[in-house]
Amino acid sequence: MNSDQRFFDFLKERIGLDVTSVGPAIIERAVRQRSVASQAQTADEYWRTLQGSGDEQQALIEAVIVPETWFFRYPESFATLAKLATQRLADINHLRALRILSLPCSTGEEPYSIAMALLDAGLKPHQFKVEGMDVSPLSVEKARCALYGKNSFRGQDIAFRDRYFTAENDGYRLSGRVLEQVRVQVGNLLDPVLLANEPPYDFVFCRNLLIYFDLPTQKQVFEVLKHLTHVDGVLFIGPAEGSLLGRLGMRSIGIPQSFAFSRQNTVTPEPLPTFAATPMPIPLPVPQPVRHAVTPATRRPFASVARAAPTVKAENTDAGALLATIATLANEGKSAEARAACERYLRSHEPVAQVFYWLGLLSDVAGNALEAQGFYRKALYLEPQHPDALMHLAALLQSQGDTVGARRLQDRAARSERAAESERKR
Ligand SMILES: C[S@@+](CC[C@H](N)C(=O)[O-])C[C@H]1O[C@@H](n2cnc3c(N)ncnc32)[C@H](O)[C@@H]1O
Repeated sequence: MNSDQRFFDFLKERIGLDVTSVGPAIIERAVRQRSVASQAQTADEYWRTLQGSGDEQQALIEAVIVPETWFFRYPESFATLAKLATQRLADINHLRALRILSLPCSTGEEPYSIAMALLDAGLKPHQFKVEGMDVSPLSVEKARCALYGKNSFRGQDIAFRDRYFTAENDGYRLSGRVLEQVRVQVGNLLDPVLLANEPPYDFVFCRNLLIYFDLPTQKQVFEVLKHLTHVDGVLFIGPAEGSLLGRLGMRSIGIPQSFAFSRQNTVTPEPLPTFAATPMPIPLPVPQPVRHAVTPATRRPFASVARAAPTVKAENTDAGALLATIATLANEGKSAEARAACERYLRSHEPVAQVFYWLGLLSDVAGNALEAQGFYRKALYLEPQHPDALMHLAALLQSQGDTVGARRLQDRAARSERAAESERKR
């Protein structure tokens, strides 16, 4: 049951999932799993089962989605939200509660983090309401249950756990005062009437979903998100998802690592690819487990799914400091300085994959695809499973029409992700 286009088309139509973005292996695995579970002997038989059963359609969607999330993912964005929310309340003279949307909310960690951040910032319960929405009923049910395991607490600062959770069996139960601020429900971002009768939201979080869509779907969804965001509101996206927004008339609010955009209706949208014109921050890699290997269908120069921190010996403080400097410069959009710092690093230290990856990203941003390709390859020579280098090189190859090469890298990234996953489970 290999590469069966019918299943790819079904998932694309239902949830926007783009096979070239995630690679066929992930979808094929889900289809295999569901065929076995529904005792179908052939692809045709499973296809018929799928067509005749809404439950099976939902089960296939559950098998293919990536519910990966955790509390205070990209912490800077929550700090930014807290500041903006306080300001926004003043701007509207405290006349109504702030409206905040988290879509997709997965198992609830994101909307609950929003509520905790606002309570920590001193907002009163009546001053804001958070709505969470996700296409997966299973994830929404888990969000409602609000009992979390260790994997949901991944950052360095997890003091919030003591403030808002109580230990229960092997997990942690969220306190009622956070739960009361959040309502979660099932919803599909591709639904044409989604939230059609709702007033716009002051803040919208749509993070780590658009990377699974192709360009036309991203454009369609960004229009929906723009519509859902109040004219004076702010849209928070994932680190790898910013390159389109400028072209749709939204502007980064300029706070590094927040990945926050405001609407700017009066400004003419940026023309199509002028990557070097408005330097956007390159997200600083923060230590996180390797996540799903996702290869965008189109080139996203600034895309950088957060990954494990570069492997530098602890005692080599010079090297560590220089890497931190490179990340800061890149985050501030100072491409030339970041490149010079990379070159300085390579002159004075042993080469590491992360520096070549950054050079690749900087070349990519400058529109030099060939040079970028060379740097990504060097990164992979040093660290064959470097997830971002795999992802970006695959995107480059794809954009040059080398589908076979791109798919090979996607498969490699998927294998690496599986290995990391089983390592985590040990
Ligand atoms: C990686 S999680 C992101 C969760 C959270 N926003 C974060 O960044 O941590 C992706 C979520 O998108 C949901 N999803 C996939 N397609 C969707 C769609 N068309 N509409 C709404 N949610 C969708 C999945 O069920 C999954 O829970």
